[in-house]
Amino acid sequence: MGTKNEQACPPDAKKMEALARFSGKLAHDMNNILGAIEGYSTLVSGAMRTDDPAKEDMEEIRQAVAKAAGLMKKFLVFSGRSGFTKTACDVGALLAGLGQKAAAEREDVKLELDIRPGLPVISADASGLEQALQHLLQNAREAMPGGGTIVLRAEALRLPPGEIKSPRPAEAGSDFVKISVEDTGPGMPAEVRERLFEPFFTTKKYAKGAGLGLSAVYGIAAYHNGWVEVKSGAGPGSEFLLVLPAKPGAADLKKI
Ligand SMILES: Nc1ncnc2c1ncn2[C@@H]1O[C@H](COP(=O)(O)OP(=O)(O)OP(=O)(O)O)[C@@H](O)[C@H]1O
Ligand SMILES: [Mg+2]
Repeated sequence: MGTKNEQACPPDAKKMEALARFSGKLAHDMNNILGAIEGYSTLVSGAMRTDDPAKEDMEEIRQAVAKAAGLMKKFLVFSGRSGFTKTACDVGALLAGLGQKAAAEREDVKLELDIRPGLPVISADASGLEQALQHLLQNAREAMPGGGTIVLRAEALRLPPGEIKSPRPAEAGSDFVKISVEDTGPGMPAEVRERLFEPFFTTKKYAKGAGLGLSAVYGIAAYHNGWVEVKSGAGPGSEFLLVLPAKPGAADLKKI
């Protein structure tokens, strides 16, 4: 599909690690402070009479704290301190379910599912993985305002050590599942491609708080000891790849 540059580009690992460390620490410390504001405002609100004119203001404070906590949660996902848990996960079944939901999203966007045979079982937080794929599907749809095609593909991959970009390569083994989301949108220029995964990087001109979709995808891939790459170049079309290590001994577990 498309004529994109076939070079797959992973994000700059050092820059992303530094940003993730900073975001994780910031979110952790902010959460402690927000917890204190939440706790004390609840106490104060509880001690007020129901007709106290300041009670509404206290409620505003509590809602603002909840919003800030939601934002910090996104930073925690990006930094890999997300509170996810891993269990054996059948990627084919997960994608089939997701494909059904995604197909119903927009009539002018066709979704093709291509789940190749022989996928190894992976050890994953299914809801986290689904969240990452939803961000990729959402971006693909947004890149095609006039309609187009998305291909959601999963295939097994065996890689030599030199091609493994896991945060902890020694634990990754050599078997992986590669999930890709490919669209027929316009692609992206190099200056966008280089900054895609940074938190708050967006080319959207509207909607506050945007620019956190791909940073979440980055964090979710890293949590699973996997990585994300993008293929997009001079021609139209973009393809995002999520590469996740198979569960050790996954061959014995192929049918769960
Ligand atoms: N499939 C794609 N095709 C072209 N450009 C893309 C694609 N996916 C992402 N981008 C570019 O990457 C930017 C960052 O994406 P990201 O998902 O992180 O944030 P966002 O979509 O702008 O906002 P949010 O996801 O928070 O609503 C987008 O603004 C867009 O410029
Ligand atoms: Mg997005």
